[in-house]
Amino acid sequence: MKWTLGISAALSFGLLAHAQNDTTLPVNYGIVVFPGFQALDVFGPLDAMNLLSYQFPLNLAIIAESLDPVSTKANMNPQNSNFSQSIVPTHTFENPPENLEVLIVPGGIGTRAPTLNSTIDYVAQAFPSLRYFITVCTGASIAARAGVLDGRNATTNKKSWEYVTNFGPNVNWITHARWVVDGNVYTTSGVSAGIDGMMAFMADIYGANATNTVAQGMEYERELDPSHDPFADLYGL
Ligand SMILES: *[C@@H]1O[C@H](CO)[C@@H](O)[C@H](O)[C@H]1NC(C)=O
Ligand SMILES: *[C@@H]1O[C@H](CO)[C@@H](O)[C@H](O)[C@H]1NC(C)=O
Ligand SMILES: *[C@@H]1O[C@H](CO)[C@@H](O)[C@H](O)[C@H]1NC(C)=O
Ligand SMILES: *[C@@H]1O[C@H](CO)[C@@H](O)[C@H](O)[C@H]1NC(C)=O
Ligand SMILES: *[C@@H]1O[C@H](CO)[C@@H](O)[C@H](O)[C@H]1NC(C)=O
Repeated sequence: MKWTLGISAALSFGLLAHAQNDTTLPVNYGIVVFPGFQALDVFGPLDAMNLLSYQFPLNLAIIAESLDPVSTKANMNPQNSNFSQSIVPTHTFENPPENLEVLIVPGGIGTRAPTLNSTIDYVAQAFPSLRYFITVCTGASIAARAGVLDGRNATTNKKSWEYVTNFGPNVNWITHARWVVDGNVYTTSGVSAGIDGMMAFMADIYGANATNTVAQGMEYERELDPSHDPFADLYGL
């Protein structure tokens, strides 16, 4: 089963042969955040990784425009609701972490804001030296605008399909997919799909056993079929 590949199988498939030919397990993770990020896009995958960090040594950098807390609020709520949470960055786009190996890009309403240029520029700049790149939901629109999905298979949130895919005319967008793997690039469908995509990555790289340990700790029932996607049908794709 593709999604339960062990480490040696992942290596033999050449998943690590990007900028570095490195046979060690990735250690240094980063996630970008911007105003109006989707909470679960960030904390779903990160909570799974939080648990994995008890099995493997891992470092996380939270990268944003400045070191100020970044809110899920983007002042784009038609109800003007006062309902949001914030995350505290550890690094800025100007001074990002060195030796980043894996970068995660979440989505959210903020991907529709006109203030994303520095985030897009950072993703374009960081991508070539990464070993792995993961987008969640409409985070694919940031990746598409950064040009890093060109020529690749990718997916995104089905409710936001038109909006996101218009940014990537040279991307092979896969409609029926909870997540898509193209070499070292993982893209996932809407919000909760980020957890399944992150765990598919985890299983590919760290092994099925380590991943099952995480899933059982979270009492999370993983979707194991990357093409099982009722939301593509719901939105007529
Ligand atoms: C990567 O390293 C392996 C093991 O040393 C070697 O067999 C392979 O040819 C290398 N691949 C690249 C693309 O350099
Ligand atoms: C809600 O509004 C109050 C008053 O402006 C503010 O102090 C509080 O921080 C807001 N709550 C959130 C979650 O932003
Ligand atoms: C962001 O980038 C776009 C495309 O390059 C450009 O048209 C726009 O003016 C930029 N916005 C800001 C605020 O710099
Ligand atoms: C990309 O998707 C196409 C189907 O649209 C498939 O035939 C091809 O194998 C995929 N490529 C990769 C690298 O997964
Ligand atoms: C499965 O993972 C657990 C936790 O990392 C470890 O203690 C156990 O030895 C592993 N089992 C196998 C068969 O690899």
